[in-house]
Amino acid sequence: AEKPTRDDKFSFGLWTVNYNGSDPFGGPTRAHLDTVHVVEKLAELGAYGLTFHDDDLFAFGSTDAERQTEIDRLKQAMSDTGIEVPMVTTNLFSAPVFKDGGFTSNDRAVRRFALRKVLRNIDLAAELGAKTFVMWGGREGAEYDSAKDIRAALERYREAVNLLGQYVTDKGYDIRFAIEPKPNEPRGDILLPTLGHALAFIETLERPELVGINPEVGHEQMAGLNFAAGVAQALYAGKLYHIDLNGQRGIKYDQDLVFGHGDLQNAFALVDLLENGGPDGGPTYDGPRHFDYKPSRTEDETGVWDSAAANMRTYLLLKERAAAFRADPEVQEALQASKVTELSTPTLGEGETYDTFLADRSAFEDFDANAYFNGKGFGFVRLQQLALEHLLGAR
Ligand code: GCO
Ligand code: MN
Ligand code: MN
Ligand code: MN
Repeated sequence: AEKPTRDDKFSFGLWTVNYNGSDPFGGPTRAHLDTVHVVEKLAELGAYGLTFHDDDLFAFGSTDAERQTEIDRLKQAMSDTGIEVPMVTTNLFSAPVFKDGGFTSNDRAVRRFALRKVLRNIDLAAELGAKTFVMWGGREGAEYDSAKDIRAALERYREAVNLLGQYVTDKGYDIRFAIEPKPNEPRGDILLPTLGHALAFIETLERPELVGINPEVGHEQMAGLNFAAGVAQALYAGKLYHIDLNGQRGIKYDQDLVFGHGDLQNAFALVDLLENGGPDGGPTYDGPRHFDYKPSRTEDETGVWDSAAANMRTYLLLKERAAAFRADPEVQEALQASKVTELSTPTLGEGETYDTFLADRSAFEDFDANAYFNGKGFGFVRLQQLALEHLLGAR
């Protein structure tokens, strides 16, 4: 694969390359990296975008002057390197005040503080030209069933998102929101735990068109779900507003590995979907390819940049393999043989009503369901092996 360019639209969270290696069992293994240095390194590696939480850029509790200094330094680095800020998000999880959540804390004063923190950060997002505002509610949840009235919590979540929608509309900001689902961690159970829960919630909002989702590879996989299939449903619903790419190996703690360092076959299916849209084309994703990963605790700064580069290289390699898969005549033939493409043909004929359908004897009375396949299979295994061989570079 070629070296990444700005046209590939790769972006990174400031908190990703700046993860210092702390985990619940041990403190930092790496020093903090300065924002300007991060921006320069990401630009050099071929990324186009940087994203951040307010508190990644200026520490929680910063004075207005300290906050402004860091904003100005970021703006200078952006104009020096061409790095953009396509997405901004708010930290409603690190400070102790958010231990029972932000938008859905049982404590009303905390909810009011959280909303003000977000409103202030939306102004900053607009100022920096971000088009997407991500909401990951890692502390919106509970450990104990008796501790949280889930219906009331969802109502407060809805109240918060409705207010934010009203705010960007009145301010004329060109910003859409993306809810990021996660099943657990840090809370025992998080509200809107999967992308499906989030999609259903969005439809209850006053301005559903302003709100989509930011699904993360590892988060759906922590729930044992098929990420590529979930993203396909999000695209189908027109709700894939952003995406968090990383790697996860099965149902366990949130690993945030490099993209492709988890379920590689599903990563291949995902890149194929994002780039090619499906067997018949169909909507693809044109937003940032955003990496939300953590350089492993074992790495030094060289390992940080190696892993950042690895995310982009793996994505581009998978994009190459997916293109080869789609272009292979044998694959096209196998897709036909497996009737993958036939699924796009409507089940009813053009203009067919249930009356004409009920009158069609070939559909039922004369249809010999037992004889129909007569032992014939679909050939899905052959098709998947072709995919695997392309993925392995064997074809
Ligand atoms: C996590 C989440 C976060 C969010 C981030 C942006 O599991 O920690 O993925 O990294 O993506 O807070 O909203
Ligand atoms: Mn995560
Ligand atoms: Mn994470
Ligand atoms: Mn994420």
